[in-house]
Amino acid sequence: MSIDTPTRAAQTSTPILPALAERWSPRSFAADAPIDEQKLAAAIEAARWSASAANSQPWRFIVARRGSTAFTQIAATLAPGNLAWAASAGALVVGAYEIAGPDGTPRPWAQYDLGQAMAHFAVQAHASGLHVHTMGGFDADAVSAAFDLPSGVRPLTVTAVGTVAPAHLLGDERLIARETAPRVRRPLEEIVLIDD
Ligand SMILES: Cc1cc2nc3c(=O)[nH]c(=O)nc-3n(C[C@H](O)[C@H](O)[C@H](O)COP(=O)(O)O)c2cc1C
Repeated sequence: MSIDTPTRAAQTSTPILPALAERWSPRSFAADAPIDEQKLAAAIEAARWSASAANSQPWRFIVARRGSTAFTQIAATLAPGNLAWAASAGALVVGAYEIAGPDGTPRPWAQYDLGQAMAHFAVQAHASGLHVHTMGGFDADAVSAAFDLPSGVRPLTVTAVGTVAPAHLLGDERLIARETAPRVRRPLEEIVLIDD
């Protein structure tokens, strides 16, 4: 936790696992911190052990460390508002999914499975001291083209992972305000439709 970033822990209505409450998505990443390889490997391993429909494991990842060619290629596909901060992350991870099995059977839950795998990734990373920020704002077709992905593998997200840095290093006032604003969620009564 950086000194100028107040605690970001969720104000939960009942206690939850610390790693879940404390996980949050920063934009201020330390541009001089290399990614910790062991922690990155553990996050990918956590994703690998996520549940999936019929254990189909449709997730596919592109893991790129800052400074690598792949990192530059992924960064080039980010929406400008994301590139402004995500280029400082220690690594960028493309989350992609297979749309169908080897016999052509569609995988209707593949996006769900990928999302759950990335949730594992985020919580494992956070528990080990890394921070994670997932983005939908990128050009998926450009990622497919850059890495020559098969047509049955669709990029869905790019996730920045690395070491959090003090919010003021973002420079931009609007970004700093977002970085330090209270974290909010809809009330339970709004999201639990029936609780019989
Ligand atoms: C699928 C997905 C797409 C997202 N896309 C973006 C994005 O393009 N840019 C961004 O700054 N944050 C993005 N976010 C981050 C969310 O805005 C963030 O998780 C949300 O505001 C809750 O904040 P928290 O993660 O700190 O609890 C995305 C998150 C997810 C899960």
